[in-house]
Amino acid sequence: MNRPSFFQVRSFLTRTFQGRRAKIAGLSAACTALTLVLISCGTLSQPIVAPPNIPGATFVGTKACADCHEEMVRDFKTADHSRLMAPGKNAENAGCESCHGPGSLHISSGGSSRMIVNPGKDPEACFKCHLEIRSKFMLPYRHAVMEGRVSCGDCHNPHKGEMFKGGGATNMMTRNEICFQCHTAQRGPFVFEHEALREGCTTCHDPHGSVNQKMLVARNQILCLKCHYQQQSGFAASANSNSGGRTLVIGEGSHSSRLSQGTCWSGGCHEAVHGSQVNSHLRY
Ligand code: HEC
Ligand code: HEC
Ligand code: HEC
Ligand code: HEC
Ligand code: HEC
Ligand code: HEC
Ligand code: HEC
Repeated sequence: MNRPSFFQVRSFLTRTFQGRRAKIAGLSAACTALTLVLISCGTLSQPIVAPPNIPGATFVGTKACADCHEEMVRDFKTADHSRLMAPGKNAENAGCESCHGPGSLHISSGGSSRMIVNPGKDPEACFKCHLEIRSKFMLPYRHAVMEGRVSCGDCHNPHKGEMFKGGGATNMMTRNEICFQCHTAQRGPFVFEHEALREGCTTCHDPHGSVNQKMLVARNQILCLKCHYQQQSGFAASANSNSGGRTLVIGEGSHSSRLSQGTCWSGGCHEAVHGSQVNSHLRY
């Protein structure tokens, strides 16, 4: 069987990233042109809207929170968001209160939780700035954040250090720890590992939501062909056909006929997509 070598997979990934970089470069060129009209692209893609509203309350600034939440205010200096929310004329709105709303009544009441917004209970505060994430959480397959069973804070650190729990901005195996908090079955160790997991769970799943079952980033063999693109000519043809992949497989061989029964991991084939204890082809 003509399997892609690890290096073929690698070079494919590198090319993909280069492609993406090229796109980004194009985008920033467009941005430079637009700056004449608009202040910056930041305002275009990241509308910073009003922080959450609490009737009757006014902004008091981050320093005022330190009286009772001393450690949090101290650690906040290391948090991604304290860097990201640039201070300025409205600096008092840009610290704790950008997510928690104006704090005056919370303080004068001695810390009433009814007088402050907690995005751990209601993600709307995050959506004020991250509109595109809200639309993901409206998709049919998603984590139950809107229902309050999972929170942004389960996967993201708002107060301290890196926004991604467990750190690992560059090390995907470390970043997978976010998911292992709740999904222990995918951790392994497996006798036959699927090396795809080293690229991170998010290679195949969108943790915020997707139109595809299991929050997959693609619903059929296209998901696998991202890396296994040279496996068989029939596969490649079906990936390009964009037909949903059920019928338009024009190659020869057992893989092509199998695809009419399902896709790579369904229909009794590579069911152990995350790794297998017994089968090197990830069959079970
Ligand atoms: C006078 C002391 C005091 C100050 C100042 C104070 N807090 Fe609090 N805060 C508390 C207390 C006490 C609690 C715990 C309330 C409880 O558990 O019922 C609390 C709880 C909270 C909670 C959790 C609410 C929940 O849903 O359980 C948040 C969020 C919060 N504070 C944010 C802030 C922010 C932001 C500031 C600054 C604007 C601030 N606090 C200033 C005393 C204070
Ligand atoms: C990027 C948004 C964001 C910012 C900025 C932010 N918080 Fe929070 N805060 C959250 C989220 C989300 C939770 C809920 C955490 C969870 O569900 O695990 C929370 C919870 C809290 C709580 C409740 C206790 C807890 O750990 O659940 C307190 C108190 C609090 N924040 C205080 C602060 C203070 C003080 C600041 C500024 C130094 C601040 N927050 C800045 C998002 C933020
Ligand atoms: C006042 C605006 C504002 C609020 C409110 C806000 N963010 Fe952000 N956040 C930003 C900006 C600006 C960035 C940097 C630009 C970007 O990556 O989109 C950012 C980046 C992020 C990142 C990516 C960090 C990285 O290193 O790439 C995550 C994750 C994130 N925010 C989560 C949250 C969560 C969860 C909440 C609610 C608890 C929240 N944000 C609330 C403004 C905000
Ligand atoms: C189940 C875990 C999980 C939950 C819950 C979650 N996120 Fe994320 N989020 C991630 C991961 C993992 C990434 C990195 C995605 C990547 O590497 O492609 C991410 C990335 C982001 C980013 C960076 C931009 C992007 O789209 O990649 C933002 C902003 C963000 N999340 C905001 C939020 C907000 C707001 C919430 C709550 C409404 C939330 N997230 C809930 C896991 C989660
Ligand atoms: C705080 C716990 C928690 C974290 C962290 C978490 N998840 Fe989940 N996840 C859940 C819950 C709860 C469900 C719903 C399970 C159910 O309905 O049986 C779920 C469902 C899923 C599903 C769909 C399962 C199905 O049957 O449709 C996938 C895929 C998934 N999570 C992937 C991830 C990934 C990838 C990460 C890391 C970025 C992650 N999860 C982090 C709690 C979590
Ligand atoms: C190579 C792509 C790929 C990668 C990488 C990947 N998954 Fe999956 N995952 C899948 C597919 C495909 C399914 C659907 C399997 C099915 O329906 O039988 C799935 C299903 C799931 C489910 C639902 C399990 C169930 O029994 O329904 C969870 C939870 C999950 N994955 C978590 C993770 C976590 C956590 C990671 C990172 C450690 C991860 N996945 C990495 C492809 C992948
Ligand atoms: C991020 C890239 C990537 C993705 C996406 C991916 N794989 Fe893999 N896969 C690899 C690498 C790397 C190997 C190990 C190198 C090799 O065996 O060629 C591998 C190995 C395998 C093997 C073992 C090869 C053998 O000996 O039979 C199977 C089976 C497999 N993958 C199935 C899948 C399926 C099914 C999917 C889609 C759900 C998928 N892969 C998605 C990268 C990926």
